[in-house]
Amino acid sequence: MSVRGVGRVLRLRPTRASALLQQSRCFSSSGVRPQDQKAGEPTTHFGFQNVAESMKESKVRDVFNSVAKNYDTMNDVMSFGIHRIWKDQFVQQLNPGKKSIFSEPMTILDLAGGTGDIAFRMLDHARTVNGDPETKVKVVDINEEMLKEGVRRAHTLGYRTEGEDAPISFLVQNGETLEAIPDNSIDLLTIAFGIRNFTNKEKALSTAHRVLKKGGVFSCLEFSKVDNFVLDQIYRRYSFSVIPMMGQLIAGDRDSYQYLVESIIKFPSQKDFAGMIRDAGFQLAGKGWQDLTFGVAAIHTGVKL
Ligand SMILES: C[S@@+](CC[C@H](N)C(=O)[O-])C[C@H]1O[C@@H](n2cnc3c(N)ncnc32)[C@H](O)[C@@H]1O
Repeated sequence: MSVRGVGRVLRLRPTRASALLQQSRCFSSSGVRPQDQKAGEPTTHFGFQNVAESMKESKVRDVFNSVAKNYDTMNDVMSFGIHRIWKDQFVQQLNPGKKSIFSEPMTILDLAGGTGDIAFRMLDHARTVNGDPETKVKVVDINEEMLKEGVRRAHTLGYRTEGEDAPISFLVQNGETLEAIPDNSIDLLTIAFGIRNFTNKEKALSTAHRVLKKGGVFSCLEFSKVDNFVLDQIYRRYSFSVIPMMGQLIAGDRDSYQYLVESIIKFPSQKDFAGMIRDAGFQLAGKGWQDLTFGVAAIHTGVKL
């Protein structure tokens, strides 16, 4: 299996997120469970819970370990397939692939790339639209189970995943640090529905800036804030009542989907997130984002000057 682990020993942990979250019923009034606190350590949110910063990564890993097998099916069911339209639009706008016989093939890093949904679209676009079979995508994710699904999909689609010239490769790595990725080495860094799960988003943005070449593009597709009060109420009602229930029925895991819904609510507004991208050193194009479906999702883009 060509999932490479760099910088740390890989641990396959069968623990289901639901088991962990079941324990989380006993909160203190601050929303912090005693076992999620560490004296003097700053806390961060994990959905609507507050947990010690050092614990969030493993909790997020448990969620995606639990959802990995059903992740693609659940995405289709929960969004009525709309996530495919957003992802298609995201990739078409980025237009990956070399644009002329004189230009170099691109090196693309799809961060928090999970099961490869964005990466496969990039490769397909580079080949079919730009006639470029040389552009390569590195799919980087902290979760080995999600990447294993991606490797399986790559092989089904006929892509090699091993060797220097493989069009797609999969790497286990924390996106906040990307230790295995050299400075100024990436042309395009994408992240779709990933960054809201990171413990330290500022650190991830500054790392994205580090690994991009000058002129390189950072682009993020993420759930965002709906700009219409009535639609927002309908959307929240749907999210909180239907999605965890579907998680239970289809994947046998209500709690992980409850976390995913809560994490969307906790994510900053379009304006605030655009400010964070600018603070990491990126030049924003215009206001810096584009709403999709009334702001249910948004695409944020910045360039490293
Ligand atoms: C909702 S999935 C999105 C997967 C894929 N990008 C897509 O659009 O289908 C979020 C992904 O973020 C990954 N993730 C969460 N925290 C991460 C981190 N610190 N570094 C790298 N990946 C992370 C999870 O493991 C998961 O695969």
